[in-house]
Amino acid sequence: MTAAQPDDLAGAPAAGAATEIDPDRLILDARKITKRFGGLVAVRSVDFTIPEGSIVSLIGPNGAGKTTFFNVIAGLLEPTDGAIAFRGNQVVAHARRAWAEPFFWFALPVVVLLIAIGIVLAGDEAAGELLFLLAIVLVVASLLVAIVRPPWYLAMLRRAGVFRSARPNEMVALGIGRTFQNIRLFQNMTALENVMVGMHSRMRATPADAAVRTRRHNGEEAKAVEQARHWLRYVGLRGRDNEAARNLPYGDQRRLEIARALASEPRLLLLDEPTAGMNPVETRQMTDLIAKVRRELGVTILLIEHDMQVVMGVSDRVTVLDHGEKIAEGSPSEVRADPRVIEAYLGRGATA
Ligand SMILES: Nc1ncnc2c1ncn2[C@@H]1O[C@H](COP(=O)(O)OP(=O)(O)OP(=O)(O)O)[C@@H](O)[C@H]1O
Ligand SMILES: [Mg+2]
Repeated sequence: MTAAQPDDLAGAPAAGAATEIDPDRLILDARKITKRFGGLVAVRSVDFTIPEGSIVSLIGPNGAGKTTFFNVIAGLLEPTDGAIAFRGNQVVAHARRAWAEPFFWFALPVVVLLIAIGIVLAGDEAAGELLFLLAIVLVVASLLVAIVRPPWYLAMLRRAGVFRSARPNEMVALGIGRTFQNIRLFQNMTALENVMVGMHSRMRATPADAAVRTRRHNGEEAKAVEQARHWLRYVGLRGRDNEAARNLPYGDQRRLEIARALASEPRLLLLDEPTAGMNPVETRQMTDLIAKVRRELGVTILLIEHDMQVVMGVSDRVTVLDHGEKIAEGSPSEVRADPRVIEAYLGRGATA
């Protein structure tokens, strides 16, 4: 973990990101997000939007709530309050009316059962028995759907106001990729295998295909290897394919995490301190990579970063959190000059 130094804040260059971005075309719209851990309010009623195609940075002193906010967006933490829409779809909200979900499992079977009872009472036992069987099949099918949770089922629950936030794997499938503040790679797997893990959300072959190695599985696997190699080259890890993740230098592990996230074909990429622990040369390369991902792939980026050179150099907009609250938001130069921001970083009295 690195803390922003006063010199970083004062000496940062002006923003270099001047791309045409429509501030009204939002890829993410978070409203009044609050996250409590027991008595501690880590994020307090934060409104936060990300325009499509932008690079937005979240900064703030250690413990400000940045990673917590990230984890709420990524579906890893359920917010205590608030809601998030991603590409127009509500994906995160405080769980409401979860008790009503079983109603959807049993409503149809119960109707069929009542009809069956009616038919039996009317004297047609054979038809009644068939309907009893149908009711049982419907209960089993409903419970299976509830376990598998296909998108149409979740959409139905949302429409009915029975809300549960999307889980991290669902977020990946929707188009949100991420890296972690503390690198989380499969350390014993090779670089190539790590990237292929990121691809699985986009693969069609089923476990049954894999077990009997169908043509679909083999074809997909070969394509996945080729794509994984492409992503390794893209982040600057050419020739590292068969290196175990644990043997890669620290900076390369951070790149590998980005390659894995890109392999899931995200529309929004969340990067939590991608330059932490890097030397100036690696930091420069990482800044260039972030800009390249947005420029070439059109991926929107939310960046948590302590290095002000990186933040000021690459961001279209900067949001500042302090003690869980949003204290400033604007262009890099506006935020840099904001007395509340200087105070949050340098302590009370610094602006006097
Ligand atoms: N799982 C948790 N349980 C309890 N408290 C937590 C948990 N996660 C974070 N916190 C607390 O919430 C606050 C915000 O932490 P968070 O990690 O979001 O800060 P941050 O802005 O990412 O800080 P840093 O710059 O150090 O990474 C801190 O006080 C932290 O101790
Ligand atoms: Mg953090």
